Amino acid sequence: MGAKQHGPYNESIEKVLFDSRTIQKRVRELGALITHDYLGKTPHFIGILKGASIFHADLVRAIDLDLSFDFIAVGSYGKLTKSSGEVRILKDLDESLEAKDVLLVEDIVDTGLTLHYLAQNLQARGLRSLKIVALLNKPARREIEVPVDYIGFDIPDEFVVGYGLDYDQRYRNLPDICVLRMDENSQKRHGFHGFH
Ligand code: IMP
Ligand code: MG
Repeated sequence: MGAKQHGPYNESIEKVLFDSRTIQKRVRELGALITHDYLGKTPHFIGILKGASIFHADLVRAIDLDLSFDFIAVGSYGKLTKSSGEVRILKDLDESLEAKDVLLVEDIVDTGLTLHYLAQNLQARGLRSLKIVALLNKPARREIEVPVDYIGFDIPDEFVVGYGLDYDQRYRNLPDICVLRMDENSQKRHGFHGFH
């Protein structure tokens, strides 16, 4: 990982996948693309807590449109029910989606189960259109097809943290997106699905 320092997290960071400059550049590109695609509209952004909170905050500031946003928090039921893709809504939206052009903002698409479930849930709420924005995409792990309209970066099958993404609620404040160092807990890390 060279000279890059990650303060309290130094020991557990294997390498930097995308540094904050690279992330900011890509977020600006996505913002410009979305601005162009939604010209004349008033899109409504929904950030999926907590992982997407930092990406969402940067993305909406890279968009030059009249817009609104909201947040939803989801959690998995646990390993056994994971394959059903059912997620628990821990905090629902504050605003109605009636006649809105909605963009669902996620940190990472892994199996695709979370987004598949959420997209279905939101579609039933009378919205006008729904598109999905994901900062990261791990195609190797996909279990169910989800139409992701805007993707920041495709990544290999590695567990990443930082820029909102956590392992056991930590590392979210790292400005870079990093690969977590694998040790005897690597098994557990790959199987970990708690809060988002
Ligand atoms: P999916 O339902 O398998 O697509 O899982 C999506 C959720 O799993 C994401 O919103 C993250 O919270 C979590 N997740 C998946 N892969 C990673 C990772 O590499 N690092 C951190 N969280 C991850
Ligand atoms: Mg998430």
